[in-house]
Amino acid sequence: MKEFTIDTRIRSYSWNELSDADRELLEYAKRKTQDSYSPYSHFCVGAAALLADGTIVGGCNQENAAYPSGLCAERTALFAAGAQFSDVPVVALAIAAYTDGHFTEDPVSPCGACRQVMLETENRYKQPMRVLLFGANHVYEFDSAESLLPFSFISDDLKGGVRER
Ligand code: THU
Repeated sequence: MKEFTIDTRIRSYSWNELSDADRELLEYAKRKTQDSYSPYSHFCVGAAALLADGTIVGGCNQENAAYPSGLCAERTALFAAGAQFSDVPVVALAIAAYTDGHFTEDPVSPCGACRQVMLETENRYKQPMRVLLFGANHVYEFDSAESLLPFSFISDDLKGGVRER
């Protein structure tokens, strides 16, 4: 028997500790919550994808009466970035959520499906995508999408190869 652990490094910042650039990206994600179409959950999520050339692409959750037809903010932003700027890497993604008249106090954690798409984005452009999760009390930073989805299914798995763990 062999046991191994996969560690996740998370940095927690107060708003004042963040760089101006990160604050700007987070503010963009916060603004996008106002465009959320969420008549069913009333949980408004905004996302802002920062591209390598400085472009910011926003997204927000889009719900549907047929619930599974909707899409989360993160995937809305990343798919929009991929559709409009397919050859420009995404270097960071900020996420914020607003409900009951205020932004969440703790950072909102992306769902599993969004993490899978975040990882594919990172692998596609072969460079880490920093992830910033907004909470009114603190902001979490992850160095990469991979750190949010360890032991994941990736394109190499389709080839049936052996992976170094
Ligand atoms: N949602 C997101 O957009 N991103 C997340 O990270 C979590 C959940 C959306 C999906 C749905 O429209 C609403 O929030 C409630 O789950």
